[in-house]
Amino acid sequence: MNRETILIIGGGFNQMNLIQSANSCGYNTVVVDPDKDAPGKKIANIFYKLEPRDFNGHCEIIERHKVKGIVTSQMDKPLQFMAKIATKYNFNFLSEKSADWARNKFEMKKKFLQNNVPCANGVLLSNKSTDIEKSILALHSPLIMKPVDAYSSKGVFTISSLADILDNFETTASFSSDGTVIIEEYISGKMISVEGYVFHGHIEIIQYTERFKFTPKPMRVELGHIQPAYLTEFELEKVNKNLIQGIKALELNNCGFHAELKINEKNAFLIEIGARLGGDFNASHLVPLSTGINIEKIIANIAMGDVPEIPLRQNQYSMIKWIELNEGSKIKKLPGLNNIAANLSGISEINFLLKPDMTVPKVTDSAKRAGYIIVTGKSRDDVIQKALTIENLIQKQIEYYN
Ligand SMILES: Nc1ncnc2c1ncn2[C@@H]1O[C@H](COP(=O)(O)OP(=O)(O)OP(=O)(O)O)[C@@H](O)[C@H]1O
Ligand SMILES: [Mg+2]
Repeated sequence: MNRETILIIGGGFNQMNLIQSANSCGYNTVVVDPDKDAPGKKIANIFYKLEPRDFNGHCEIIERHKVKGIVTSQMDKPLQFMAKIATKYNFNFLSEKSADWARNKFEMKKKFLQNNVPCANGVLLSNKSTDIEKSILALHSPLIMKPVDAYSSKGVFTISSLADILDNFETTASFSSDGTVIIEEYISGKMISVEGYVFHGHIEIIQYTERFKFTPKPMRVELGHIQPAYLTEFELEKVNKNLIQGIKALELNNCGFHAELKINEKNAFLIEIGARLGGDFNASHLVPLSTGINIEKIIANIAMGDVPEIPLRQNQYSMIKWIELNEGSKIKKLPGLNNIAANLSGISEINFLLKPDMTVPKVTDSAKRAGYIIVTGKSRDDVIQKALTIENLIQKQIEYYN
């Protein structure tokens, strides 16, 4: 029997688990990426170097291989393009209008407000010369400023004065595809994300993630995640209700989702819903480790119109801790990972993203983080203790140039 073919958009490291999962389902995997040496090339059945928005190029491949479905894991950027292709070939995928709403944080906010989904009040500014003071008059401080459609916290600043806005406006605008900037009310409380998927209109929540640590304000880069997040019954009810309302407001369907919420004594507020899975090893590593469920396999099934098989859920804790090093110091030698891991259990992965002779940068966005530690354990305290112990050993053993 001929295997059915799936087109996977992106062959980077963050797509490896998706490609492997699609292979394990028995699909013929065709992977495209602009990098001719993308790591996914090695595990794909067929690989093409292809520019991300080359519509005709994608169509040619789809027709040549009789592709049945299209999928990507954690990337926001290709969603609108993919939705357009999906419309042409009638693939099981997000609609074009949902992709537009989910990709633009201000359009998303409008949809939320129209549908009474709790979220931050905000305004859209197209340039610095607008009367900013007047535009934000109705908003309650503190505020947060962000690009309309960026990712990885690029250009996100907490704001406590007009001067903060003016000082950082250009930086924020530079990360926005059309130069527009959102200023919205800062919602206090604890931050969580929720991972799940929608298949033929059925919404399934798989896991709740606690944001463990951020870089100091005004940047808010994430430095740790724990699954599952601790939620009281009251919080859980609010999160589920508001999230489902938010997913319906954006009419998300046939996709994974990664929602971000802030919870305080008043309510659970939607920060945003990505119509794709969570990055930062969330969907690819933390979810399978904490639940036994491979959500990337599920979205491959959804793309192909196959009913996903959900294994029996296992419950344990998983955590990623991004390694914090001395900002401004030049690395001489990194510690041997075998030594560090020797007497500790529950370590899933340790990886350095910085290499010897590199200087530790200020972590102004996710891409500048030094490396990460992924652990599993039987409780929240257990994973925190393990991750911080390893981080501490690394910090002690790393050698810097004087
Ligand atoms: N209105 C808000 N109130 C409180 N915190 C917020 C608000 N908006 C954003 N944040 C915080 O700033 C972070 C980054 O904002 P946002 O999610 O909008 O940008 P992003 O580029 O998608 O970043 P990321 O990829 O880290 O999610 C959020 O994860 C959240 O912690
Ligand atoms: Mg976000």
